[in-house]
Amino acid sequence: MRIKYTISIVFFVALVIIEKENNIISRVSDKLTLKQTPQTPLQLSGFSHILLKHNGSFTSLNKMDSTYPLMRQPLENNSEHQEVMTRGTKHILLLATTRTGSSFVGEFFNQQGDNMFYLFEPLWHVEKMLTLETGGTNATAAAKAYRDVLQKLFLCDFSLLETFLEPLPVDHITTALFRRESSSSLCGESVCSPVIRGVFERYHCRTRRCGPLNLTMASESCLRKQHRAIKSVRVRQLETLRPLAEDPRLDIKFIQLVRDPRAVLASRMVAFAAKYRNWKQWAMGGDVPIDDEEVRKLKGNCDNIRMSAEIGLGQPPWLRGRYMLVRYEDIARFPMKKATEMYRFTGIPFTPQVKSWILKNTQASKEASGVYSTKKNSSEQVEKWRFSLPFKIAQVVQKVCGPTLKLFGYKFVSSEEMLTDKSVSLIEDKVFNKLT
Ligand SMILES: *[C@@H]1O[C@H](CO)[C@@H](O)[C@H](O)[C@H]1NC(C)=O
Ligand SMILES: *[C@@H]1O[C@H](CO)[C@@H](O)[C@H](O)[C@H]1NC(C)=O
Ligand SMILES: *[C@@H]1O[C@H](CO)[C@@H](O)[C@H](O)[C@H]1NC(C)=O
Ligand SMILES: *[C@@H]1O[C@H](CO)[C@@H](O)[C@H](O)[C@H]1NC(C)=O
Ligand SMILES: *[C@@H]1O[C@H](CO)[C@@H](O)[C@H](O)[C@H]1NC(C)=O
Repeated sequence: MRIKYTISIVFFVALVIIEKENNIISRVSDKLTLKQTPQTPLQLSGFSHILLKHNGSFTSLNKMDSTYPLMRQPLENNSEHQEVMTRGTKHILLLATTRTGSSFVGEFFNQQGDNMFYLFEPLWHVEKMLTLETGGTNATAAAKAYRDVLQKLFLCDFSLLETFLEPLPVDHITTALFRRESSSSLCGESVCSPVIRGVFERYHCRTRRCGPLNLTMASESCLRKQHRAIKSVRVRQLETLRPLAEDPRLDIKFIQLVRDPRAVLASRMVAFAAKYRNWKQWAMGGDVPIDDEEVRKLKGNCDNIRMSAEIGLGQPPWLRGRYMLVRYEDIARFPMKKATEMYRFTGIPFTPQVKSWILKNTQASKEASGVYSTKKNSSEQVEKWRFSLPFKIAQVVQKVCGPTLKLFGYKFVSSEEMLTDKSVSLIEDKVFNKLT
């Protein structure tokens, strides 16, 4: 009896120590990595110029190259192709930027039910792995990696994503998948392996107790579902995803979610107050330095969002019928109506589960019954930022994001009075997508 106890205790302590060591080692190796980067040659051929930070040093990922010729593969008459043809499998990519309500809109698909395999921000890992010592990423390299990881995930293949996980999965088992619990598909019965005592999972399932994520099981579950949806705030340019639209194995629909950049900034200024200390000072009286890092970032984001939308709305042949633009403000005011439109666009049945989730989590019940005051109330919620964003800063946004505001139908304000005048809505009614 005693020996048994001792053995279990020793075993448990050993596990705890191993876990701690792992943490320390990974922290130390993060630091080492930072120091090593300057000498690291960043340019090899093809995709292997992306050097992954596994195991404390950059590793050129040659094994990735072998998974890589995906794009160049001849068009096979393979099972996925047939699946698209016969099962009507749809692949939905929800594209957004941060603070646009994308987690909320993602729920429209996450709640769809047993037919849907939904992933929440899988590209988080890719971005993290590709972050350079300067803090940014090489946009060209990242775009390529995002595109290829998304393509594989839409085919239920996690192998490429696995190479970006840290620590690397062992036998396709991981404890580190970012926000696993935000994908109900990854916490479903069939993807729930037994809990292993002493193994810590940061993003553990909330609905049921599951052990580490077995990505083979996830992949099998994905293949059994009829439709697949992924949400991401990391893709910068829609055009970089063209190969996905042209892949005959996929029937992809892009939904781009946008929001008034002035409101996004107001929200960021609350969430990341320290970053915007300068801005608050300018608002008090100083001049806005135009070469400010944050101003440049703001402009870059606005331009990317606008350019993606211009391509989508321009309906080039490769995107025809595959692109929909949705404004956050419309979803906040008319969630049921917009969800219905989104589902019609994707060609997937709008299930009672989704409807009841929306009813529970919004004021849509009133919208449906036609109570006008609801609209007014929601408009107020949506435009609350107007009372927190200093006019001067609103002007800066209008200056650097002017064409973006115009394209999406957000009215410019010309004075402090107009900014805070509740009787003037800054959201123009605008129809972007003629649904066919
Ligand atoms: C990490 O590095 C150690 C020592 O350098 C090596 O023994 C181990 O196999 C490496 N692990 C991986 C996953 O590459
Ligand atoms: C693909 O397979 C289907 C059924 O197996 C067959 O009817 C069709 O002709 C094939 N198409 C091509 C291009 O080989
Ligand atoms: C970014 O990556 C591309 C290859 O995808 C490379 O050609 C380019 O030189 C890189 N840029 C920088 C600044 O490292
Ligand atoms: C992961 O799941 C697959 C498929 O169900 C199974 O064959 C494999 O043994 C599992 N791996 C582990 C380590 O349990
Ligand atoms: C809007 O509606 C919510 C919920 O019904 C309520 O709590 C809030 O006070 C309303 N706001 C205004 C400004 O009427």
